[in-house]
Amino acid sequence: MNKFATVIMAAAAATLLVTACSKGDSSQIKVGFAQVGAESDWRKANTESIKGEADKRSNIDLTFSDAQQKQENQISAIRTFITKGVDVISFSPIVKTGFEDVLKEAKEAGIPVVLFDRGVEVSEPGLYKCLIGSDFVEEGRRAARWVIENVGENANVAELVGTPGSDPAVERKKGFEEIIKDHPGIKIIKSQTGDFTRAKGKEVMESFLKSPEADQINVLFAHNDDMALGAIQAIEEAGKKPGKDIIIVSIDGVKSIFEAILAGKANCTVECNPIIGAQLFDVVEKIHAGETVPERVYSVESVYDSKNITQEVVDSRKY
Ligand code: AHR
Repeated sequence: MNKFATVIMAAAAATLLVTACSKGDSSQIKVGFAQVGAESDWRKANTESIKGEADKRSNIDLTFSDAQQKQENQISAIRTFITKGVDVISFSPIVKTGFEDVLKEAKEAGIPVVLFDRGVEVSEPGLYKCLIGSDFVEEGRRAARWVIENVGENANVAELVGTPGSDPAVERKKGFEEIIKDHPGIKIIKSQTGDFTRAKGKEVMESFLKSPEADQINVLFAHNDDMALGAIQAIEEAGKKPGKDIIIVSIDGVKSIFEAILAGKANCTVECNPIIGAQLFDVVEKIHAGETVPERVYSVESVYDSKNITQEVVDSRKY
């Protein structure tokens, strides 16, 4: 074979390889993903991580659906994935309960499910293959330990709770209360949901600051950074100093809260890592190849406050 023919054959083989796994090809793994919504900066980063990772992998054909924080939308998206016959379904359950029927339908259709970020409560095992995400109880514990170590044994805490019935709201509260129960001087004196959004966080903090207990509040524990950022605005508008008059502790670790910590308007954020798209598709590929996957995959996370947040840390934060 002459040199020219060798080059032509090599080029043809390369084209074959690329087309073997190009987007829309039937040899790809069809993944249906039903996302919670776009309620927070964390969620937006999480969605980018899923879509970005799917784009990088030529063997993945992703269909993405946004449930706009409504469980019925999420269930109907999952049913559509079942009807379409995708290879793997993944979703981040808006709340913990109410998914049992649709999980059974997926199982009957022989479609494996990977839970992503949030867990569910089900009465029988085997309805999903794996849960990838954070340890929410531990996040709540970390927030409480930070309060004890940095505020001391006396604190009147106002709590902004996440979406009622969601895994992070239930478990973060549990973790926080588990730690403070041995510290009787630390009390939660106000607690209400802000639905994980900045607007609701601001609105609820405004009502806390108009309540008879307003002047007693010296710590805010927000189940996510977006609610804390909304609350910071409400505190400033009420003529108080966030980060000083009221110590702000929240969860997620988004760039805007890092900036607030650097500016002295917030005090601590417990990291919850949204960049877990690669972990998702690693698990999806294993399931598709018939390999066994662990039931639980945890993300690696830290705690940030003024001791470890510098301008360089803020600048390098991607979300
Ligand atoms: O499930 C993770 C939580 O959901 C994040 O803490 C919050 O910001 C998001 O909306």
